[in-house]
Amino acid sequence: MNRLTDPVPDGRAVTLPLPPAWPRYSGATAARVQRRIREGDVYAFGRERSVLELEGWAREYFQVEHALAVSSGTAALTCAYAGLGIGPGDEVLVPTYTFHASATPLFALGALPVLYDCDPVSARADIDDIAARIGPATKAICVTHMFGLPADMDALLELADRHGIPVVEDAAQAHGATIGGRKVSTLGAAGCLSLGGQKMISGGMGGLLLTNSADIHARALLLGHAHERAQEELPATSRWTGPAETGHGQNLRMHPIAAELALEHCHSLDERIAVRTAVLTGLSERLARFGFLDPPRTPAGCSRGGWYGYKVVYRPEHAAGTPIDDFVSLLQAQGLKVARPTTKPLHQTWPFQHHDIGLAGYDPQRRRPLYRDDELPHATHLYGATLAFPDKNLHQPADAVLDQYVQGIERVARRLGL
Ligand SMILES: Cc1ncc(COP(=O)(O)O)c(C=O)c1O
Repeated sequence: MNRLTDPVPDGRAVTLPLPPAWPRYSGATAARVQRRIREGDVYAFGRERSVLELEGWAREYFQVEHALAVSSGTAALTCAYAGLGIGPGDEVLVPTYTFHASATPLFALGALPVLYDCDPVSARADIDDIAARIGPATKAICVTHMFGLPADMDALLELADRHGIPVVEDAAQAHGATIGGRKVSTLGAAGCLSLGGQKMISGGMGGLLLTNSADIHARALLLGHAHERAQEELPATSRWTGPAETGHGQNLRMHPIAAELALEHCHSLDERIAVRTAVLTGLSERLARFGFLDPPRTPAGCSRGGWYGYKVVYRPEHAAGTPIDDFVSLLQAQGLKVARPTTKPLHQTWPFQHHDIGLAGYDPQRRRPLYRDDELPHATHLYGATLAFPDKNLHQPADAVLDQYVQGIERVARRLGL
């Protein structure tokens, strides 16, 4: 075999550019935003038009009683936990294989995240591992629909109901994903969407909290939407009336211009999900011929909605034992935009390996569980065996460049003597 540093014979397989990265916005949206800037209409304290329109769309699309636009997916998760009344000393079960914001809002609330493992191929929540970690202090279970793939909600809700524990769905990556025709983010006590960055609905930054619970909605308003909005919305006779004036210390409101941007994506969501699903299932069909790659599979009865992230499991045992970093280098040399993922499982990050997280007053009542790097073995394995494909550029048909991706992988296979 040639050394990895040798020049690629015959040049690179991939010569065509990928489509432009998401998010994109129309001229009409740009004109609306420009008008608002011209008129200085860039701030809102109470119930603002674009924010209300976004929330109205969300209530209708997700068929939920309450939709609260917030400043980020992280804020939505913070509101969900606060909305459930989670506080100092409470435990919440959280996946290790997720983005840190599924867990980190719990630190601010003085609660204790307890991590659980995932399936080693699909990254779905391991329901048996959740069951094993439920204890007397468990006050909620968070589940992340990773890469848009719905968790096994029937099994999870059955378990959670049996123990009387509410479920928070982190659907930041799963806009519009369904399981048995039901939309994720509407199945637990609260659903949290990120409307930030390169999400399927993006205001640049933003989030949505979805719930059918008036109590969760009320506590979320008190946490992040105090004064005008909380005072207008919370019934004058309720227990919330007194605290509504000042709230509980955060400003988690979504920026009206972010809502303006996100609205465009809301109205086209279903059509774009259809296109994206066709493009990414087309990529999976192309990759299925390579025994050393395990592309994402979507079980019957599920759909991934926005498909945030497209991760492939690499099997070195079918690639002459080639280490993953060498394999990635060979693909990159052929012009493929693939990389190792950068988001570690949480049990490998600082706050889950140390008691002192630099937060004054944290851990006042009890110590948290800490983890070793190799604990939670499925997530550990998955993190070490995964390749990220450039899904942010795959929101429109890209057959010609994806065919070149296949040629690039074939050339690498030949180079490895496979
Ligand atoms: C699974 C998951 N949860 C939460 C978040 C946090 O969302 P935000 O970045 O909008 O705060 C993200 C963001 O990518 C995410 O992927």
